[in-house]
Amino acid sequence: MSLQQKLAHFAKVSLNKVSTPLERLENLSRVYGREIYIKRDDISSLAMGGNKLRKLEFLIADALEKKAKVIITAGAIQSNHVRQTAAIAAMYGLRCIALLENPIQSEDTNFLHNGNKLLTDLFGTESVMCEALTDPQSQMEQLIEDLELDDAYIVPVGGSNALGALGYVQCAIEIAQQKPLQVEFDKVVVASGSAGTHAGLAIGLQELLPHAQVIGVTVSRFKQDQAPKVEKIQRELAELLAIVKMPEIHLWDNFFEPEYGMPNRAGLNAITLLARSEGILLDPVYTGKAMAGLIDYLENSNEKTPVLFVHTGGSPALFAYPEVSKSII
Ligand SMILES: Cc1ncc(COP(=O)(O)O)c(C=O)c1O
Repeated sequence: MSLQQKLAHFAKVSLNKVSTPLERLENLSRVYGREIYIKRDDISSLAMGGNKLRKLEFLIADALEKKAKVIITAGAIQSNHVRQTAAIAAMYGLRCIALLENPIQSEDTNFLHNGNKLLTDLFGTESVMCEALTDPQSQMEQLIEDLELDDAYIVPVGGSNALGALGYVQCAIEIAQQKPLQVEFDKVVVASGSAGTHAGLAIGLQELLPHAQVIGVTVSRFKQDQAPKVEKIQRELAELLAIVKMPEIHLWDNFFEPEYGMPNRAGLNAITLLARSEGILLDPVYTGKAMAGLIDYLENSNEKTPVLFVHTGGSPALFAYPEVSKSII
């Protein structure tokens, strides 16, 4: 059975908006003398786009099947995931409650109220602040108990469980269908956070483009802590899809410091580079750092094989971080 046939067995709300272009980055390809492509999941059309929509197609279908009336999720104040969940909940007439943390203890007004937070509020999601998301699953369960909700559905942080990661198996299918025939991707680079995107792509591409090495650029934690997260979702996903072989896990972890949610110089430079060379918007928390990893590789590699960057979105956060405006010269 093909991957596509296997995916068809899972219920999915049809946003019909998630299929995204695969484009050649003309100017970067010229500068680095190799084929550089980008998968534009930043412009999936709902709620300013991003990678969570693919996961939410499966997760919200599950919630609706279970007759949920309330969606509970969690993330940082500037969470892209929460923003996209808020939009879909609004679309399906579901109440949405988000448990939010301030991971960098910022007091900046834009961080607290603009960007993703503004959009989350606009979509009508109720926010509940907490000190820190130390154990989000139990904290969300506790919230359900405190609010005495009996029809709530928990969407995990980042939409990252095996069901959500099916969205990135779907993306792998799209990549394999869209890529020009003569182009053989050697590396597929993506931000790796709650790990569902990374795991879904790795499982899907292992079947469809076995020569492509999926590289996760860590945005939250070092390799030794990130690899088990990717592995867990890969394993659960493989089970769900009756796949026996597990993909090798590749992580680059020199690009996220000082910490999750805090911009760094290389990431800010990557944002400016993509804006000025291709007119494409990255973000300071995920895709700027992932692109910094790809640029570092391109600058230090003698290979000339084609590469693909999976753009997972996040541009609303550009308006929330003062570091972005200060970095513009
Ligand atoms: C813009 C963006 N890119 C990448 C990621 C990481 O994806 P994942 O959590 O599936 O690893 C996120 C997660 O929130 C995100 O918002």
